[in-house]
Amino acid sequence: MRVEVLESAKCALKKEFNGKNVVVIDVLRATTVMVTALENGASCIYPFKEIDEAKEKWGIKKDGFLAGERKGLKIEGFKFGNSPLEFTKEAVQGKEIFMTTSNGTRAIENALSADNLYIACYLNISAVSEKLLESKKDVVILCAGTDDKFSLDDALCAGMIIKKISEKESLKIDDLGLALKKIADLTSDLKGVLAESKHYSYLSSIGCEKDLDYCTMIDIFDIIPFYKNGKIKLPLK
Ligand code: MLT
Repeated sequence: MRVEVLESAKCALKKEFNGKNVVVIDVLRATTVMVTALENGASCIYPFKEIDEAKEKWGIKKDGFLAGERKGLKIEGFKFGNSPLEFTKEAVQGKEIFMTTSNGTRAIENALSADNLYIACYLNISAVSEKLLESKKDVVILCAGTDDKFSLDDALCAGMIIKKISEKESLKIDDLGLALKKIADLTSDLKGVLAESKHYSYLSSIGCEKDLDYCTMIDIFDIIPFYKNGKIKLPLK
C-alpha cells in the first residue's frame, strides 16, 4: 500500500485520485466539527467552498442550517460558526448542515475524484486507520493546511494515522509522510507540540481555548464519515 501526504488544500487542485482512498484532515476545526456533528446525529453535511453557494443551496432546501467561518469567526447570518462544541445532540439531531470553511471544505472539494473520501481528525484516528487497512487501496492523506500552507495540527494527525497503519501493514510512504510519522513517534504531549503552531495560536488568541482542548482529544469516537454525491454522512448501520 502506498501512502502520500499533501500538505494543503491547494496541493490537491490538479490531482487525480482515481483508484485511491483520500483522507481529508482539518483538525482545527472543520473535520472535527463534521465528526462531532455526525456523531451527535446530524443527518448529513453539505460542504461548500464559497459562502454564497452554501446560502443558495440552503435557501433552496429551506431545511437544516448554515454553519461555517471566515478567519475563524462565525459568518454573518449563519446559525453556527466553526466551534465543534456548538454541534451538540440537541442542536443537530436529524438536521442537515450546510457548511463552508476557509480550508476544510475547500480541501474536500479538491479531492472529489477519490474512490473513497473519508473525514478524519484526532477524535476518530483509529477508526479511520482501520478502514484504510481493510480497504487496501493506496492512500492520499490531504491535510487542509491553513491558507494553503503547511499546518502542524493537520500534519501531525496524518503522521499518527501513518504510524497506526504502518504497525499492521508494510507501506511505501512518501518523504513528507515519513517525516510526519517520525514526529508522531516522538510525540507524547500533543497539545504541547501544537501550542506554538500558527493556527493553534491564532484560535487561542480569539478565545477558542475550549475548542483546542476538545480538538486534541484522541479516539473518543469510532465513526468514519465519508463523502458521496455532495454529502458527508455515516454509513448506514
Ligand atoms: C478551516 O476550515 O479553515 C478551519 O476549520 C478554520 C477554523 O479553525 O475555524
